[in-house]
Amino acid sequence: MLQQKDIRKVLLAGAGVMGSSFAQIFAKHGYEVILYDIAERSLEKARGVISVNQEAEVASGELTAEESAALVERITMTTSKEYFSQADFVLESTVENMELRHAFWREASELVRPEIVICTNTSGMSITEIAKAVKNPARFTGMHWVNPPHLIPLVEVIAGEKSSEEALQIVYDVALSLEQKPVRVYKDPTGFILNRLQYAIVREACHCVEEGYASLEDVDNVVRYGLGMRYAVVGPFETMDFGGIDIFNHVGSYMFDSLCNDGGVPPILKRAYEEGKYGLKNGKGFYDYSGDKAEKAFLHRDQGFIAVAHALKALEKSE
Ligand SMILES: NC(=O)c1ccc[n+]([C@@H]2O[C@H](COP(=O)([O-])OP(=O)(O)OC[C@H]3O[C@@H](n4cnc5c(N)ncnc54)[C@H](O)[C@@H]3O)[C@@H](O)[C@H]2O)c1
Repeated sequence: MLQQKDIRKVLLAGAGVMGSSFAQIFAKHGYEVILYDIAERSLEKARGVISVNQEAEVASGELTAEESAALVERITMTTSKEYFSQADFVLESTVENMELRHAFWREASELVRPEIVICTNTSGMSITEIAKAVKNPARFTGMHWVNPPHLIPLVEVIAGEKSSEEALQIVYDVALSLEQKPVRVYKDPTGFILNRLQYAIVREACHCVEEGYASLEDVDNVVRYGLGMRYAVVGPFETMDFGGIDIFNHVGSYMFDSLCNDGGVPPILKRAYEEGKYGLKNGKGFYDYSGDKAEKAFLHRDQGFIAVAHALKALEKSE
């Protein structure tokens, strides 16, 4: 299989939120990028997003104007499948729909060279199931990023039933070459690891509000100022080591049984959905985002992520 050090040209399929960000990340790290989409208007939008992001990178001093121009030069946008046969690596970020994904991969895995690694950035669909449409599935894996990918370092490298160890290692190496933090996920569990943990917290957060234990604002504050800050530095297993395994064992003996264990979507989440509250995308969610509040919320979030990312990098350098 073509190893990471020999990968020059990457084909990124799907030029939406994730794909347009990936194009910049790969190009920033010297890869030649083909950004492919079925819709010309998606490429138009991606062009706009990339241009705005690059202006911001230059303004913040992250890149010089020359570096940014060279990065953009390395990105070719296309709706043509002619580039598939030239790709050294494929990362697909299209739609969370099995039928459409199967259609994409059935064709794409025929078009690409047999020796290259190909992967999908599905949020949680089974890699094993997607792989059923892939010709030679040993070279196919999951590569799950977190939004916004240029600010959040984690990449989950997921093994489907037929993914080869070599393909998984190549995806892992690609993530490292992009200065990301890859982790390996085995047995293709639903939601991989990040979403399993995230949804466990979401279920308990909804339960605490539903039961009237705290307001939703204060549940957010508990995560922001308590758990979130801690978890940016130490994970749950390190936390148990710091706190004392004897203590966690003792507290766990009554805590675990008191946690919400309901199946299905929590009522508070379901109600918000049924009331047409979709979050920032339509101006109303658990909070109000009318007027310019959504734009301010995005800015606040991204500034926060940048500050935390810088702090973590500084911490890593001092280790
Ligand atoms: N946005 C996130 O937070 C996030 C995080 C991790 C993973 N993901 C996953 O990444 C994928 C893409 O998410 P997004 O937010 O970028 O979506 P998006 O809707 O912004 O973009 C999807 C793009 O794929 C294109 N597309 C659809 N079918 C295609 C095909 N057959 N070939 C080529 N292009 C095609 C669409 O035209 C669109 O431009 C999804 O599977 C999603 O679950 C998203």
